[in-house]
Amino acid sequence: MPFKTIIEPFRIKSVEPIRWTTREQREKLLKAAHCNLFLLAADHVLIDLLTDSGTGAMSTHQWAAIMEGDESYAGSRSFERFRRSIQDICGYTHVIPTHQGRAAERILFGVMAKKGDMVPNNTHFDTTRANVEFTGAEAIDLLIPEGRQPALQHPFKGNMDVAALEALIARVGRERIPLVMLTVTNNSGGGQPVSMENVRQVSAVCRRHQIPLYFDACRFAENAWFIKLREKGYEDKTPKQIAQEMFSLGDGCTMSAKKDGMANIGGFLCTNDDHLAQQEKDLLILTEGYPTYGGLAGRDLEAIAVGIQEALEEDYLRYRIASTAYLGNHIAAEGVPIVQPPGGHAIYLDARAFLPHIPQEQFPGVALAAELYLVGGVRSVEIGTLMFAGSAQMDLVRLAIPRRVYTQSHIDYLVEVILEVWKNRAQIRGMRLTYEAPFLRHFTAHLEPIGD
Ligand code: F0G
Repeated sequence: MPFKTIIEPFRIKSVEPIRWTTREQREKLLKAAHCNLFLLAADHVLIDLLTDSGTGAMSTHQWAAIMEGDESYAGSRSFERFRRSIQDICGYTHVIPTHQGRAAERILFGVMAKKGDMVPNNTHFDTTRANVEFTGAEAIDLLIPEGRQPALQHPFKGNMDVAALEALIARVGRERIPLVMLTVTNNSGGGQPVSMENVRQVSAVCRRHQIPLYFDACRFAENAWFIKLREKGYEDKTPKQIAQEMFSLGDGCTMSAKKDGMANIGGFLCTNDDHLAQQEKDLLILTEGYPTYGGLAGRDLEAIAVGIQEALEEDYLRYRIASTAYLGNHIAAEGVPIVQPPGGHAIYLDARAFLPHIPQEQFPGVALAAELYLVGGVRSVEIGTLMFAGSAQMDLVRLAIPRRVYTQSHIDYLVEVILEVWKNRAQIRGMRLTYEAPFLRHFTAHLEPIGD
């Protein structure tokens, strides 16, 4: 690239207005939402970084494909296109559509895991953990130690600790480990990638012990791009070749097409095992739908078939990862503590380091997220003490970037807002809980600033 300005590799054909509110309005709105950004109306948010899931913009090719949707109950043309597009990338024998990622997880673990089993992962995403635990099995995170230190620089902080995996197998026996999972990229660990070398090593251990290896593939394209940028021997490979190689080292995957599927809804489950696929399809029919639509409309299958290929385009990935890194690097350069290096789909602010005067029990992440809204109308999400209570190892605020939605000037605006909050951080107060639900409390909790 001869120029340093990041430009979006697309032009805009349809626009959706976003609306300004005044600081005074936001103060009232935040109070009415009990300082919980989940309880805000989306119309009152200027830049919405709550999640990158299902919030992306579709391309002209996807919209055109949607018109080709075949809504036949069984054997639809759209399913064939969906199956072929996914198999082209991951090569697995069976492709089972689901309405989103967690439905694929529920079916996979429902068939493969049971009480007494253990499922290792680099880091389980929360729905993945919940679906493992729902079967009575134990979800075990085996991330490399470097992945747990926010400020530490490492090219592949999403890697699994291979020695820890071997030790676990030796300790409990392969019979109690129905599968091993790798989450690419590692969402709960800061959107950090897994290297091909690590996939190869984990795959070799699994094959030696005859344990199937599955990918939680939500952000597989972003992971492939990081491998291309950072791993020796992959500089000249295309993201698709890298993704194909990665999938070939495993036996199946779960996928939320709401991320690197570039769709607003959808997911799938893949496996090479005919016997398992039969059981999975039986369960699918019970709760999701017939195996050629799995709870999706034919047009959704079309959008995914096109979107999953677009996610692997180099111009797109170059812009996406550069734009996320730009946000992270510009705030970090001014001293803002973030999980380093910047991840693929999100920047994670380290709220404990940002607000050292607010103790953990006063929810520094919630306080920081509330301030970002008050100052700039920005919605983010706390991943910390409110979400995980006592077991929270960090208090992070995730700024997840929807795909192809915001422009570089939106990113510049975010940099300004975050730096303004950083400048006045000493005035930010801690929070007190006034209501909590018995489980998954972060979605509905009520809080208020201490001293109000
Ligand atoms: N696995 C990972 C790594 C995820 O990030 C998600 C969703 C899922 C599985 C579940 O997929 O939502 O389609 O059922 N992550 C979203 C997020 C919700 O905001 O990070 P789903």
